[in-house]
Amino acid sequence: MKNQVQSDKERQQDASFFGQPWGLSTLFFTEMWERFSYYGMRAILLFYMYFSITRGGLGFNKITAMSIMSIYGSLVYLSGVVGGFLSDRVWGARKTVFYGGVLIMFGHIALSVPFGKWALFVSIVLIVAGTGLLKPNVSDMVGGLYSEKDDRRDAGFTIFVFGINLGSFISPILVSWLGLSYNFHLGFSLAAIGMFFGLLQYVLGGKKHLPSTSLYPSDPIEPADIKKLSLRVGAGIIVFILVLLLMKVMGALNILNFINLLTLIVLVTPVVYFIVIISSEKITKKDRSRVIAYIPLFIAAAIFWGIEEQGSVVLALFAETQTDNHIFGLTIQAGMYQSLNPLFIMLYTVPFAWLWTRLGKRQPSSPTKFSTGMVVAGLSYLFMVIPVSLFGPNAQVSPLWLVGSWAIIEIAEMLISPIGLSVTTKLAPHAFQSQMMSLWFLTDAAGQAVNAQIVKFYTPANEIRYFAIVGAASIVAGIILAFLIKPLKRLMEGVN
Ligand code: GLN
Ligand code: ALA
Repeated sequence: MKNQVQSDKERQQDASFFGQPWGLSTLFFTEMWERFSYYGMRAILLFYMYFSITRGGLGFNKITAMSIMSIYGSLVYLSGVVGGFLSDRVWGARKTVFYGGVLIMFGHIALSVPFGKWALFVSIVLIVAGTGLLKPNVSDMVGGLYSEKDDRRDAGFTIFVFGINLGSFISPILVSWLGLSYNFHLGFSLAAIGMFFGLLQYVLGGKKHLPSTSLYPSDPIEPADIKKLSLRVGAGIIVFILVLLLMKVMGALNILNFINLLTLIVLVTPVVYFIVIISSEKITKKDRSRVIAYIPLFIAAAIFWGIEEQGSVVLALFAETQTDNHIFGLTIQAGMYQSLNPLFIMLYTVPFAWLWTRLGKRQPSSPTKFSTGMVVAGLSYLFMVIPVSLFGPNAQVSPLWLVGSWAIIEIAEMLISPIGLSVTTKLAPHAFQSQMMSLWFLTDAAGQAVNAQIVKFYTPANEIRYFAIVGAASIVAGIILAFLIKPLKRLMEGVN
């Protein structure tokens, strides 16, 4: 053990990957490939679901396809709650991430074969479970590479997030090219291959470069707790099955009602989390006040992610049906637009880092950045009102409209995503650190659960109103948050 401690210390002094410990390289490429597979698959999935069978799709109607996209995205972030728990209490991060990667790879393989609806269902289950195991724990291991005093941590996270966006940028182009110009299953295979590379280098690099602490659970579960927990989980599953049976008996068990049920579960989860944390005896008065301040920030982030995640649903549909995808004699495949989101993130990373460093202590507080972000997110949708009002639902407009909309919303993402992560860790009570991290990912889950309901209103006849109302709602919410900044700052007790 002593030797181990020694070598962990050595690792902390290691600066071989852009001045960072080499373990960051392993985690960087694991997450890069995982996001490559996820966003590559998402770039063509909507089309796979609603394209007719003659065009290689499943022939779902568009509303159902959009709703599935949203609830799927939502569950991917909900399952992180379970993944974080299994890592902390049962397997340790290293194994949990590995199991996750394997499930994800098989999830993509399921779609590489032409087995239709059932393969889609199996794939969704595997990828929801796998991403829940992998994603939160890879991020957590990044934090684990640095000692509390190591001031390379922020830079390390910036590099890591860059990896996320690099993977998310490349794959929609490649997967759409294969999947939409040749064959959907070929596209999904590429996603599977990406995850395979991710796993391969994770296993090879992990042995040598990841700290040995990640091999064990940080807070191993007691046998007595196992029993209590199994009872609760068992009861939960039974209730879920009973509800499904009841729906079946009432003749109401169909895909849209099933999605409604999932929406409800996703939205209740953060409420339960907040109640448990706020009423816990393990937290101080100051902690409680900070967690209460987190509630409006949670809602703000959920609204933001709601719009951001509609990029692969509403804007994806717009790209396929209402955009002129021929420029300079070249054909743009509709899924390729998904690369714009990570592209803008990468472009904005340096200017924003410069801005925050330059402002230093004079920079706006987190609630101010959130409020501005929501207004900007809303503007990205109001911007889309222009082409749809000018040209109507039957025209094919210039791709530049979508480029513009993404250019706007990614400014909002810079104001909310990294700031949210950091403020979450700062507001988290000591006893609830990892639960608060899960809560942060639930902002995205909640946004997409609401999306599963509202995307149903996105129809050609309703388009102008849709962009206008959703955009305006985000702006109004942003303005309300602006009025709350002062009291929030008081409640945050010194956190900025
Ligand atoms: N798009 C980022 C990712 O895929 C952030 C997601 C989030 O924080 N909800 O990692
Ligand atoms: N914007 C998505 C995520 O950061 C791809 O980064």
